[in-house]
Amino acid sequence: MSDNGNKQHDNSFEPRITAFVCTWCTYTGADLAGTSRLQMESNVRIIRLPCTGRIDPLFIIKAFERGADGVIVSGCHPADCHYTAGNYHARRRFTVFRELMDFIGIDARRLTFSWVSASEGTKWKEIVDETTDRVRALGPFTAYHNLAGGAEEAMAGGVQ
Ligand code: FES
Repeated sequence: MSDNGNKQHDNSFEPRITAFVCTWCTYTGADLAGTSRLQMESNVRIIRLPCTGRIDPLFIIKAFERGADGVIVSGCHPADCHYTAGNYHARRRFTVFRELMDFIGIDARRLTFSWVSASEGTKWKEIVDETTDRVRALGPFTAYHNLAGGAEEAMAGGVQ
């Protein structure tokens, strides 16, 4: 049985979490959490995009490859997308992607998908804290680290 890349870890492990968020709702909600001085875990690095409809599942795989232990995808609530239906496309895409995660060796608990509006700073804080706690308990995810680097090294030193 696969361990989905979950490794044993000591108590000092602090997860690295990448958040792909839409600029109109979740980014503004995260900004509100900051300006409201809400205390939250500091493990999340935000990548801001125009809309969740722009988030390709390959971005998530790339984040894991570059060292993330967990990923958050968050955007406007249904019917609030500034590009009409981008979040509906995202929801469909990530429903399928979540089904594939076990197959590609990533524990689905490492991915959080949520809706956070510009006025929901408190909700953003809760998502950050819950995701950080969950991923911290899972431990580091190393199965995908340096996947591309390894391929580049193999290309450089491999077939001539
Ligand atoms: Fe926020 Fe589309 S603009 S999800």
